[in-house]
Amino acid sequence: MQATVSGIRLSYEVFGQGSPLLFIHGFPLSGAMWHEVAGSLPGGWRGIVPDLRGHGQSGATPQVTIGQFADDLAGLLDAMSERAPAVVCGLSMGGIIAMEFYRRYTDRVRALVLCDTRANAETPEGIARREHMAQTALREGTARVVDIMIANLFAPSFPAERRSQWHTLMSATPAVGVAAAARALAGRPDSIPTLPEIRVPTLVICGEEDAISPPEMMRAMHALIPDSRFVLVPGAGHVPPVEQPDAFAAALGTFLASLPPTAAAPGRA
Ligand code: MLT
Repeated sequence: MQATVSGIRLSYEVFGQGSPLLFIHGFPLSGAMWHEVAGSLPGGWRGIVPDLRGHGQSGATPQVTIGQFADDLAGLLDAMSERAPAVVCGLSMGGIIAMEFYRRYTDRVRALVLCDTRANAETPEGIARREHMAQTALREGTARVVDIMIANLFAPSFPAERRSQWHTLMSATPAVGVAAAARALAGRPDSIPTLPEIRVPTLVICGEEDAISPPEMMRAMHALIPDSRFVLVPGAGHVPPVEQPDAFAAALGTFLASLPPTAAAPGRA
C-alpha cells in the first residue's frame, strides 16, 4: 500500500487486525526486516510496517532528519485514519526515530519497544564516519556502504547465504536515501536526558551478540527508563527480528500481553 505524506510517497504493509503496532526499520534496511515478526503477531494486534523515506519502495529526498522521519510516520498514521495510540517498535535507527516520535507525539504512543538502538548523540568520530559513508554511497553506490557494514550486522552464526540475501536487499536502497539517512544519524538528538521522562511501558531488547549497540549500552538505557524491562536474544547480533524471529516474537508477545488495556479512544488525535 502507499500513502502520500508531506509530498513523499510512503510504502507500507499491514499485518493482522486489532490494536496498532508500528514497526520502524533500521539503516539501510526496509520494512522487509519485520516480515517474520509482523506476520506472527498474536491475535488482536495489527502490525503497520512502513518503508521509511529513502528506503525500500518509498520515495527519497536528498535530505532528511530524525524529526522528519518521525513526522512522516505521524503523517502516515493520519493518512490511515489511525487514531488509537500505537505500540511503537523501532530497531537501531528505527529506535532513534521511535524515541523522537515519543517526544513529538507522546499521546499517540501506548508503549515503546527499543531494539538494538542507542540514545546518545553522535560522537565527533561517528559524525566523520557517517559523512564518509554518505559520500561513499553517492560516489560508489549503496553496495559499497553495505560491504563495510555487513560484517558487524549479524551474529557470526548467521548463515552466509542469508547474509548474502540481506546484502542484496540493503544494496537496493537508493544511494540518495542512504546518504540522507547517514547524515540524519550524524545529526541525531541526544535522547539520554529524556529517557527518564518516558511514561509508557517500554521493552528494551537486544541481540546478545550485537556488536553495534552492545547489551551493556542497552542495559544502561533500560536503567534510565522507569517502566522498562530488558530482554536479551541469544544467538542474535544487531538484527534479532531477522536472525532469531521466533525468540524476538515470543519476547514481544509477552510484552504485549502485559500491557494495561487502553481506554479505546475514538476521536483521539
Ligand atoms: C541501523 O541498523 O539502523 C544502523 O546500524 C544504525 C547505525 O549505523 O548506527
